[in-house]
Amino acid sequence: MKEVHSYIQENKDRFVSELIDLLKIPSVSADSTYKENVFQAAEAVRRTLEDAGADNTELCQTEGFPVVYGEKIIDENKPTVLVYGHYDVQPADPLELWDSPPFDPVIKDGKIYARGAADDKGQMYMHVKAFEIMMKTDQLPCNVKFIIEGEEEVGSANLEAFISKEKEKLKADIILISDTSMLSLENPSITTGLKGLSYLEVEVTGPNRDLHSGLYGGAVANPINILCQMIASLTDENNHITIPGFYDKVLEATKEERELMAKTPFDLDEYKKKLDIKEVHGEAGYTTIERTGIRPTLDVNGIWGGYIGEGAKTVLPSKAYAKISMRLVPNQDDEEISQLFKKHFESIAPKSVKVEVKPHHGATPYVMPIDIPEYKAASDAIEKTFGKTPVPVRAGGSIPIVALFEEVLGLKSILLGFGLDTDAIHSPNEHFGVENFLKGIETIAHFYDYYADKK
Ligand code: BES
Ligand code: MN
Ligand code: MN
Repeated sequence: MKEVHSYIQENKDRFVSELIDLLKIPSVSADSTYKENVFQAAEAVRRTLEDAGADNTELCQTEGFPVVYGEKIIDENKPTVLVYGHYDVQPADPLELWDSPPFDPVIKDGKIYARGAADDKGQMYMHVKAFEIMMKTDQLPCNVKFIIEGEEEVGSANLEAFISKEKEKLKADIILISDTSMLSLENPSITTGLKGLSYLEVEVTGPNRDLHSGLYGGAVANPINILCQMIASLTDENNHITIPGFYDKVLEATKEERELMAKTPFDLDEYKKKLDIKEVHGEAGYTTIERTGIRPTLDVNGIWGGYIGEGAKTVLPSKAYAKISMRLVPNQDDEEISQLFKKHFESIAPKSVKVEVKPHHGATPYVMPIDIPEYKAASDAIEKTFGKTPVPVRAGGSIPIVALFEEVLGLKSILLGFGLDTDAIHSPNEHFGVENFLKGIETIAHFYDYYADKK
């Protein structure tokens, strides 16, 4: 494995510039304006896999955006790693908050700034480059298959059908994913859990038209006022969620697990400073690491209605809306939680308004065992590159397909992420450290080696 490090050193400028080319394609899956660009990104990824040495590369059509496939089978009797990633990105808005255009990547202070830099083009591309190294230095020790999808940021709705249909083609022993973060380069970590998700939209209707807020205000329900009151009542003074039955299936962490979590190298002051907040906020009785890792949460993602243009307009609006997400933990079921929310939200609405609750997508929570050889291989690989044993950390984010990989293909996933929580994914000025990118490539190459050895 000696050549890996030197190969990276000799080719790092090219690796970065290839990634920059990929980041220039605005593959926003949520916005149909970018439809052509999403297809264009799929083809670009396919080509990079082919150039790196993959066989049978293709764009597999789905009802939505294609899944990019590629493989290298060196020996049917050797184990197979199935790499998953996504080439679609979140919308870039609000555009005015970016210091440089989101699809015109720049490198500043050792970081690549662009939408998708860390989530997930930069991390997905580490796999393409690690594979290139293994191929070009002739040391790939096992089989590899790639599926890179284009609908992760919109809930991976068509991927389940794809993996169900292509079970034979996707036959593998383990899934490997880089789409999560680490604590820091100094304190590397491996993600051992992902949250589930229930996402809903609510619509509150008051009078049948917008009214003069003087003529009718105080006498007719204002749907925005009502919506705010309803949302406020979803959590109590301890920041517990008040939806009846919400916590019934939550698997409480054991004393030992909580003791282990308390040892996570995490600096609360630094955390607050980076976010420019005086105090954190969350469920009473739990630490910040526990709140994000093992406790279910509820957040309003957007709320609108009434007049938001320049100046003032005195109006009592007819409608108010909000998008609400709940992050779930084992063993909560997203469909059941969506139903509990709907029932509760409808029940707390006063007679003066009509309420409609529309469920969007969901995701099942996932927890990865740390006593399997694949985890050990990932841990050894990180230790080799970073010089420190990684700690297991459960993430607050979700990757919908991971639980389905287990359900449909019977495969566990290793979440070998190299981003940082401060990379501003989904936010303006998303970035990815060049060092994270290069160390990620090196670690992935080592992973193959340790993995093939342990199998
Ligand atoms: N890569 C993220 C998820 C993530 C990031 C997990 C960092 C852990 C640490 C992924 O692309 C994502 O954004 N997922 C969405 C879910 C989806 C249904 C839109 C999320 O978590 O909001
Ligand atoms: Mn992602
Ligand atoms: Mn994302």
